[in-house]
Amino acid sequence: MELTVNSVARTVQSPPLSSLLTVLREELDITSPKAGCESGGCGACTVLVDGQPRRSCLTAVCAVDGAEVTTVEGLGTPEDLSRVQQAFIHHYAAQCGFCTDGLIVAATAYVGGGGSADTGDIGEALAGHYCRCTGYVKILEAVAAVARGDTFDTASTASSANNTYVTIAGAES
Ligand code: FES
Ligand code: FES
Repeated sequence: MELTVNSVARTVQSPPLSSLLTVLREELDITSPKAGCESGGCGACTVLVDGQPRRSCLTAVCAVDGAEVTTVEGLGTPEDLSRVQQAFIHHYAAQCGFCTDGLIVAATAYVGGGGSADTGDIGEALAGHYCRCTGYVKILEAVAAVARGDTFDTASTASSANNTYVTIAGAES
């Protein structure tokens, strides 16, 4: 099977029914997609397949033969972060970071598709992504900032205007 992963052509040797998550992490050594629940429920393994967010733990690699796969490693570099990555730093939207890669990938698809800065809309778009650290407020603020077209000074940080805890639809504990 052939994949284009982060703009690089890769030949996959794993068995066809291997999950895309396993192929990325264990064969291709791309470790930003995380093995959380491995049953489609947490979002930590989310990658873009032909531009659309997919749970890589539930995706057999044979089902995406020929596809273009993008992970966080393909979005930006430490010297040239993507706008969503900049926003997550600027708004303190990551703590332990386990959920962060999946959220950044999903948020990238959301804003890339013209998503609005409405936090309700953002919550719907990120539904099913669980975060056990942030309370979601700062994640929503970060994505809204990108949707508004804000610029970021990652040497400083924004203070949250609202420290109440909220949930993203589908992510209630
Ligand atoms: S590890 Fe894939 S959704 Fe949780
Ligand atoms: S930052 Fe720790 S789970 Fe989200």
